[in-house]
Amino acid sequence: MGRNYKIGVIKGDGIGPEIIDEAMKVLDALSANMGFNLEYNEMLMGGAAIDATGVPLPDETIQGVKKCDAVLFGAIGGPKWDNVERHLRPESGLLALRKEMGTFANLRPAMVYDELVNASTLKADVVRGVDIMVVRELTGGIYFGQPRELLKDRAYNTMVYTREEVKRIAHVAFEIAMKRDKRICSVDKANVLEVSQFWRETVIEVAKEYPEVELTHMYVDNAAMQLIRNPKQFDVILTGNIFGDILSDAASMLSGSIGLLPSASTGKGVGLYEPIHGSAPDIAGQGIANPLATISSASMMLRYALNESEAADKIDDAIKKSLAKGYRTGDLGAYDAVEICSCSEIGDIIAKYVSQ
Ligand code: IPM
Ligand code: MG
Repeated sequence: MGRNYKIGVIKGDGIGPEIIDEAMKVLDALSANMGFNLEYNEMLMGGAAIDATGVPLPDETIQGVKKCDAVLFGAIGGPKWDNVERHLRPESGLLALRKEMGTFANLRPAMVYDELVNASTLKADVVRGVDIMVVRELTGGIYFGQPRELLKDRAYNTMVYTREEVKRIAHVAFEIAMKRDKRICSVDKANVLEVSQFWRETVIEVAKEYPEVELTHMYVDNAAMQLIRNPKQFDVILTGNIFGDILSDAASMLSGSIGLLPSASTGKGVGLYEPIHGSAPDIAGQGIANPLATISSASMMLRYALNESEAADKIDDAIKKSLAKGYRTGDLGAYDAVEICSCSEIGDIIAKYVSQ
């Protein structure tokens, strides 16, 4: 008997189902010849869950994910659910799921494929060789801070971090840095916010346990600028929830398209693997979405959750090979494309390469 893994699958809304189908196609092609077996459990979250059950995160999903070895997730949200109360929005389902699963560490690699250096809006020389890991705190900060309220003439949110929360995400970043170039840039707004001052002090404390790692600090506004000016100066970026949200979108554009980059949300138990992009309702259902970010997230899932690094390598190599051969979805289409492909054609190509 081979290895058996239970994979929770949350397709979500918009392009979610299309991109997840391609990731599953690739995973199935791999499992067939890598000696493991994947059992999928589909679950609802986001707009699709609202439509089916009235709430964005049904109890069944909360219970279901806990029984899985890992969860693969597409994207949620869309104009259809934009005007509902905040706690009933699709996004609230995702935030509650992250909290329920305890996935406090969000790893968002921003790397530039050599084959795509011309696809970035920045000059090729600026982006060639970029390889950044954004480590974003995911279950704290202003996203979850209390008190919060929307009143008639006033509204407020609160940015809170406890020592434990900062320490545990800092440890994740330092462990990752130890396996990379041993450099961390911690991003905050310590010149203005007490919570950032506290963040910085706590990260400095944790750094004492990792004398080999070089720690620097940067204000978030400067970091946004430096990411565009000279992204190669960064190895690991460690930051809080909202700064990480913003900086990871910015960093994704170094690669040429937000449709390329994966993420892993890990923490206490089961991890959640998802592309960093959203549900792109404007192109949903047209078969033109780029599935590579999701296929790449499946690779992260194999590597980090299932310890199937050989299979993960196969996916990463297949992605590079397909880009080298010039297969592109429309978001990358104008750049050195040999053939403009649909979402499912890219899935077919990657599935074929991983089976070779
Ligand atoms: C992300 C998204 C989410 C976030 C939204 C959909 C709640 O932008 O994963 O980056 O802000 O965390
Ligand atoms: Mg975001």
